[in-house]
Amino acid sequence: MSTESRHEGAGPPQRRGLFIAFEGGDGAGKSTQQRLLAERLRASGQMVVTTREPGGTPIGEKLRSLVLDHGHGEIDARTEALIFAASRAAHAEQVLRPALTRGEIVITDRYIDSSVAYQGGGRALGAGTIRDLNAWATGELWPDLTVVLDIEPADGRGRRTAGIAAEDRLESEPDDFHGTIRDVFLELAAAAPERYLVLNAALPIGELAEAIEARVEELLARMPVRSREP
Ligand code: TYD
Repeated sequence: MSTESRHEGAGPPQRRGLFIAFEGGDGAGKSTQQRLLAERLRASGQMVVTTREPGGTPIGEKLRSLVLDHGHGEIDARTEALIFAASRAAHAEQVLRPALTRGEIVITDRYIDSSVAYQGGGRALGAGTIRDLNAWATGELWPDLTVVLDIEPADGRGRRTAGIAAEDRLESEPDDFHGTIRDVFLELAAAAPERYLVLNAALPIGELAEAIEARVEELLARMPVRSREP
């Protein structure tokens, strides 16, 4: 069954927007690049929605604190995977699909690949299982482009601990956990290079932003999205 055909009644909503996900290890600079890309696209008149996972909806933000904050007792791996998937289901239904149907550009800080990497790889639940779970949770809503900001686990830890915020439940896992996550992101990208852009997160911020913008411009030239009214 196709992605959109699960909507009954008025017929499948047309998806016209562009869906971009940022992925990578903790401390890779995803939120900075998300912000810079959104600013550049908005300056050129595009309608842009920026969002993040876990979170992006009221229920998702509650799930975010449940799964990331310390102090909720033990959270086993399957429960963790289901909480991330529940947050994502709400996000896809309430935020992502409506914006894409309106023809806007959606840029999310993390999406399904984070679950495949962290829960599938890091927690060893299996990439295929986690992919299938999240395909169901989102009604097969896949990004047009995933930007992977690739970072060495030790660099990521250095950047995180240089900040003031304490590490969350996932960030505080050891470097070999983060090494597995990195490997999964790179494998996912290598398997579908036409839908991925992998960049070395150690490059200067401006250089990364330009490479990302160039790739997005290429996509926009092929799939026109809705611009702001003049
Ligand atoms: P993130 O919001 O990127 O962290 P930060 O607060 O540093 O910006 O992500 C929070 C953590 O959740 C991060 O360690 C990755 C993890 N995570 C998963 O394990 N699975 C998922 O599906 C998602 C979306 C995030």
